[in-house]
Amino acid sequence: MPRKIRSERGELIKKRIFGEFGVFTFALPKIAEEVMPGQFVMLKIKDEKDPLLARPFSVFYAEDKVLELFVKRVGRTTTELFALNTGERVNFLGPLGNAFKNAGSSVVLIGGGSGVAPLNFYARKYGFGRFLIGFPSYLEGLFDIFPDGVDIVTEDGSFGKKGYPTDYLSGDEGIVYACGPLPMLRSLEKKRSKNLENTYVSLESMMGCGFGICAGCGVKKRKEEGYFRVCSDGPIFSFSRIAI
Ligand SMILES: Cc1cc2nc3c(=O)[nH]c(=O)nc-3n(C[C@H](O)[C@H](O)[C@H](O)COP(=O)(O)OP(=O)(O)OC[C@H]3O[C@@H](n4cnc5c(N)ncnc54)[C@H](O)[C@@H]3O)c2cc1C
Ligand code: FES
Repeated sequence: MPRKIRSERGELIKKRIFGEFGVFTFALPKIAEEVMPGQFVMLKIKDEKDPLLARPFSVFYAEDKVLELFVKRVGRTTTELFALNTGERVNFLGPLGNAFKNAGSSVVLIGGGSGVAPLNFYARKYGFGRFLIGFPSYLEGLFDIFPDGVDIVTEDGSFGKKGYPTDYLSGDEGIVYACGPLPMLRSLEKKRSKNLENTYVSLESMMGCGFGICAGCGVKKRKEEGYFRVCSDGPIFSFSRIAI
């Protein structure tokens, strides 16, 4: 049975900024109660027509009627979000999309930049075997927000291991869950070429509606003609089913 998509106004109750990244905590009782790791919400800051469309964000964590987003500032909506004051309210739609299956605490999680968000929710709810996160550089306080045992990788080596998180995979791991920028996913695809079936990626494509109506979020099917809709067929896919 399809789950109910809720429209809810959420009050910003806490914000923490780390350079171009931020964690935003909203009081959002209905969505927070139902959302599962891997699912996303559509966020619209203002009712105005510009920007017209809401934007998708994976849930970084949810518990006790409170929901957290981990956001990279890149454009209009995210800039407005960073400027929001506590006590202000914004519009949410969710929970949307599929969730990560609970594969237990031996799963390997690998996230790059804002792509760490859905994996953090999985890690905190179900546990993990390894949790590799990649960022360009050290940012004060940023790495303290992740669970104990996380493996930090910075491109410039200013903190943790040096390079990219995919450098630290052998390819022979069991189940891998990943989310991050396209270059990271392409490198993951090469590393895991013999294990694509067990490699699941959450895609951060451009979206219009977020729930299957506009056809604005296609990803090519790997084995057959045609496209999946990232919003309603995903955002999580086995790498063996999609071509990026
Ligand atoms: C399922 C899902 C989960 C996501 N989760 C997160 C998350 O947890 N945290 C997070 O920070 N981000 C996440 N994203 C990405 C986020 O939705 C985008 O970065 C969003 O566009 C930001 O909105 P904006 O208005 O600030 O920027 P926008 O104005 O949308 O611009 C963002 C960037 O995209 C470029 N751009 C704009 N339109 C297009 C287009 N049509 N084609 C190609 N490029 C374009 C712009 O030049 C700019 O660099 C997620 C995306 C998806 C689909
Ligand atoms: S975003 Fe509209 S169909 Fe996917």
